[in-house]
Amino acid sequence: MWPDLIKKAKEGGLNAIETYIFWNVHEPLYRQYDFSGNLDFIRFIRVVQDYGLYAILRIGPYVCAEWNYGGFPVWLHNMPNMTFRTNNKVFEEEMKTFTTLIIEMVRKEHLFASQGGPIILSQLENEYGNVKSKYGNDGKEYINWCADLAESYKVGVPWIMCQEWDAPEGMINTCNGYYCDQFYPNHGMPKMWTENWTGWFKNWGSKYPRRTAEDLAFAVARFFQYGGTLQNYYMYHGGTNFGRTSGGPYIATSYDYDAPLDEYGNLNQPKWGHLKNLHTLLRSMEETLTNGFSSNIEYGNMLTVTSYEHRGDRVCFFGNANETNDATFDFEGATYTVPAWSVSILPDCYTEVYNTARVNAQTSVMVKLRNGADAFREPYNLQWTWRAEKFEHVKDDDAKKGYLQFDGLLDQKFVSNDTSDYVWYMTSVDIDHNDPAWREEVTLKVHTKGHILHVFLNGKHVGSQAAKDGHWTFDFLTKFRMKNGKNALSLLSVTNGLQNYGAFFDKEQHGILGPVKLIGGDNQVKHLDEHGWTYKVDLNGIGKGLYMKDTRYNRNWKVENLPTNRMFVWYKTTFKAPMGDDPVVLDLLGMGKGIAWVNGFNIGRYWPSYFADDNGCDFKCDYRGKYGSNKCLTGCGESSQRWYHVPRSILNDDNNLLVLFEEFGGNPANVEVQTVTVGKACGNAYEGNKLELSCQGGKIISDVRFASFGDPKGSCGAFHKGHCESPNSLSVVQEACLGKESCTIDASEWTFQPSGCKIPTKSLAIELAC
Ligand code: GAL
Repeated sequence: MWPDLIKKAKEGGLNAIETYIFWNVHEPLYRQYDFSGNLDFIRFIRVVQDYGLYAILRIGPYVCAEWNYGGFPVWLHNMPNMTFRTNNKVFEEEMKTFTTLIIEMVRKEHLFASQGGPIILSQLENEYGNVKSKYGNDGKEYINWCADLAESYKVGVPWIMCQEWDAPEGMINTCNGYYCDQFYPNHGMPKMWTENWTGWFKNWGSKYPRRTAEDLAFAVARFFQYGGTLQNYYMYHGGTNFGRTSGGPYIATSYDYDAPLDEYGNLNQPKWGHLKNLHTLLRSMEETLTNGFSSNIEYGNMLTVTSYEHRGDRVCFFGNANETNDATFDFEGATYTVPAWSVSILPDCYTEVYNTARVNAQTSVMVKLRNGADAFREPYNLQWTWRAEKFEHVKDDDAKKGYLQFDGLLDQKFVSNDTSDYVWYMTSVDIDHNDPAWREEVTLKVHTKGHILHVFLNGKHVGSQAAKDGHWTFDFLTKFRMKNGKNALSLLSVTNGLQNYGAFFDKEQHGILGPVKLIGGDNQVKHLDEHGWTYKVDLNGIGKGLYMKDTRYNRNWKVENLPTNRMFVWYKTTFKAPMGDDPVVLDLLGMGKGIAWVNGFNIGRYWPSYFADDNGCDFKCDYRGKYGSNKCLTGCGESSQRWYHVPRSILNDDNNLLVLFEEFGGNPANVEVQTVTVGKACGNAYEGNKLELSCQGGKIISDVRFASFGDPKGSCGAFHKGHCESPNSLSVVQEACLGKESCTIDASEWTFQPSGCKIPTKSLAIELAC
């Protein structure tokens, strides 16, 4: 996907791409490195360079990023005397080894700007200022050590440290957040914004945060109004946390972020287009902005006019930060109106060319196409086969088979070394029915540090529980009768992304750490914490590679009696790739929770049965006023993630293998392979602007559903004519757009017949079908 995404970023007016480096994927096991395929970051930077863009390299190696364990490998934590991100010699030694490796790889390829390459800035650490005080003096020493390490590399490009208010000398403190106009770095450094959050990430069970194009553009324009020199979106494209890469706990597989390029790489319109117009304009003023003298005039009521002057050129920003009141005022002999919470940009201090609240870009309504649509070569009902996953329990030869055995409960991270979400904690308990306390029903109580627990007694499932509402620690309680003699108790503990944020997050423990106890009659208790426990990492089916095409275990998949709503089932099918280039998704509604693989590639954890609650989406999404991740939510009462991205690059033209491991129980009959595409394109433009409309991806505009130049009302999908309109509105647009891939229309009386509207600014509204 890289070339296409980078091309779209460039077309969107960007001139630099920022990326993190993720230590845990590059060094999954101690000193075993992987820079192949998707992990070939050198190649990524080369693609950026090939498109003529700059690169910003945020090495971390702590990255946060909603990424598993913040980007750290778990083996690092398992080293003796280890504490992350502080003045700890073991940590610093390892961090240095890794960052040096990265720097030398980059240097060898001549990728730093000082060597003629695209990398203009580098970063060590990430937002250390947010947690530094928790580490006391060791925190200070550590960040100074980071700064010395950075300087020692002599890469010839500046080093940045985001959210590090008193960044050590030589390091540039940069801002992260929704608004950074009032941020000023220490040491008189240039004002840079490393993370302008374009939306927010999504958790399992939560709603979808959206940030409007108007508010995002407002934040960008204000940043440059107040002396900003570099602004980076986090995310411009967030994509998907494939495999087990999402952090958390409980961060969803989709990392769409409501970014200008959506999860699948489609343009998220109007955000992409509205920002593109802004970028084009800002870059045309670059010379004056970066060299000019600025001066402000305060008009009161949060209205500020800023002008920059350089060699006779002047550019102006009219910023209105009032949340409710539009401002009408005079400036140098002319009268202007700036809507509430918006910035107007006048590249000659006279003509307004852009206003952040007036969107002249198209809105695309994305749709999912399913069975029967043109792109599908076969009418399908997926034909499923299945087999059951084994329930494990202690066996006499466990030690011989090399399973870890220990008289006590261990941190799941330590046991699995983070190679799997699944760890079995198994023990055997002797019960004597001669003792009346143990003859009847007994209670099992398991205290776990999350995130999901399945309990089995003598090979029979007796209960499951998942952490909910952010309470990762919980008590599981159940009652059962035990047999006389040996009883096998097996607890399957499942993690769902390791913590990625907060001071000392590395110390957080997972899994079953006790107490685990059986309570018999007369309140007699058997404490099992110090029992002999056998640990088995991973699912049997994953170990066998059931998700792969060619395995020894291709047999034993059954066609008949396809189970539904049964836990621990493997499902397998094949499908043909839909024709065309539109991104492909799996609709997994109806499934419970598990993992999905396509052609052996892990497309991530799925959990479509986890629905968001009903509350919080009912108020109108007003772009005015400060944004926060609870504003403008959508998806109330819906599955928190129903669709799962299957990148085209992993699909074969012919048969593709889809394998699901279903942990909770679901119904594969509803699973569909679908494509995501533009269903309709709408646009509004104010008089004097050009409206560009396109169906994207080479598709043809098939119908003009609405067109009116005058004072049209309503929004995409529900436009209607106002009091007046040009009589030839529809025919002009039909002529310009029908049967084409894209069209551009001038919203003016040059293009349309007179409308007869007696209003100061007319506008054009169009709805097209793709
Ligand atoms: C920042 C962090 C990013 C990301 C973001 C939230 O604090 O630097 O890596 O986690 O928050 O999406």
